[in-house]
Amino acid sequence: MKKQGIDVIGFGAGEPDFDTPSNIKESGIRAMEKGYTKYTAAAGMPELRSAIVEKLSRENGLSYSPSQVVVCCGAKHALFNIFQAICDEGDEVIILSPYWVSYSEAVKLSGGVPVIVSAGMDSGFKVTPEQIIQAVTDRTKALVINSPCNPTGAVYTPAEIEAIGRALLDTDLYIVSDEIYERLVYDGTAPLSIAAAVPGLKDRTFIVNGVSKTYAMTGWRIGYAAGPEEEIKAAISIQSHSASAPAHFAQVAAIEAISGDQSSVGPMVQEFRRRRDYMVSRLSSMEGVQCPTPAGAFYVFPRVSDLYGRTLGGVVIENSADFCAQMLEVARIALVPGSGFGADEYVRLSYAMSMDSIERGLDRMAEAVAQMR
Ligand SMILES: Cc1ncc(COP(=O)(O)O)c(C=O)c1O
Repeated sequence: MKKQGIDVIGFGAGEPDFDTPSNIKESGIRAMEKGYTKYTAAAGMPELRSAIVEKLSRENGLSYSPSQVVVCCGAKHALFNIFQAICDEGDEVIILSPYWVSYSEAVKLSGGVPVIVSAGMDSGFKVTPEQIIQAVTDRTKALVINSPCNPTGAVYTPAEIEAIGRALLDTDLYIVSDEIYERLVYDGTAPLSIAAAVPGLKDRTFIVNGVSKTYAMTGWRIGYAAGPEEEIKAAISIQSHSASAPAHFAQVAAIEAISGDQSSVGPMVQEFRRRRDYMVSRLSSMEGVQCPTPAGAFYVFPRVSDLYGRTLGGVVIENSADFCAQMLEVARIALVPGSGFGADEYVRLSYAMSMDSIERGLDRMAEAVAQMR
């Protein structure tokens, strides 16, 4: 529609609208000029692996050796490599819903079977330890936990993460902790890594993270995993026969991102908080829309199912896909249906876009919602 010249406001973005900070870009440019344009070790540059080890110690209180770290082409690729390394055909992996769409697909690509454990808005989109334990069978290989969460923005408190961790001590599951949004939190609760909350789990936990979100570096494709040495070695071996390694100069820039000047992060977080607050207050004032306040990431995940059964633009809205299709058709705004995240009562809106677009987009949505009969 945009290509046809139609003015569509997109709330679908999964990446910061900010530019990569200049110190990081300059470091990448310098790296290219100096000839950092070759293959690196499959596991990543030793300097970058060391910088990641230092970051995990400094910011997360976790101690690793560089041999326990693999640098991949984004956190998504790190997750893919981990599931390839640990899953045998038919192994079950517990995924907490609403979930980021790629977990279930990466598990399936490894021969594994996603097992979904759900939490709704009323529990703050957070599952209990009991729910997780009930889903464990003798085929369960791993649990994926993502806090702050895409799509809900939910952040487990330290007490909640510790309770889940303690319950897992009685199992032999791997834990895959996706911490990609850890710095994008808005209510003063710094997320605690499950491996730090319950040290007894560290030997079977993979910490997954990357530079995409914190440093607005989605296109540089640098993510990483830290975890048990043998399994990381298997992930490196898989990577060496597939991607080889991420781009050399992008790895150099990632060292600057992780170890260099951090002053770009604070203002970006502040701006996201301002937009979050505006989004929540506008959406909450629309009749039939309930929008909890997310504590992290850059998405809101309102429940719109009270509007199902009503008509918009001559079409009866039955589910989140219908809702989004008609919002595009009638209001010219693009939202993401909750069904893709395992939660059909909801839709996802990103606020990684300018305040002006947010205001105009929500004006259009409010008008369309008011028309629904
Ligand atoms: C929860 C979550 N994990 C991982 C990723 C992947 O990030 P990367 O760009 O590092 O592959 C994303 C990106 O949208 C995400 O939302």
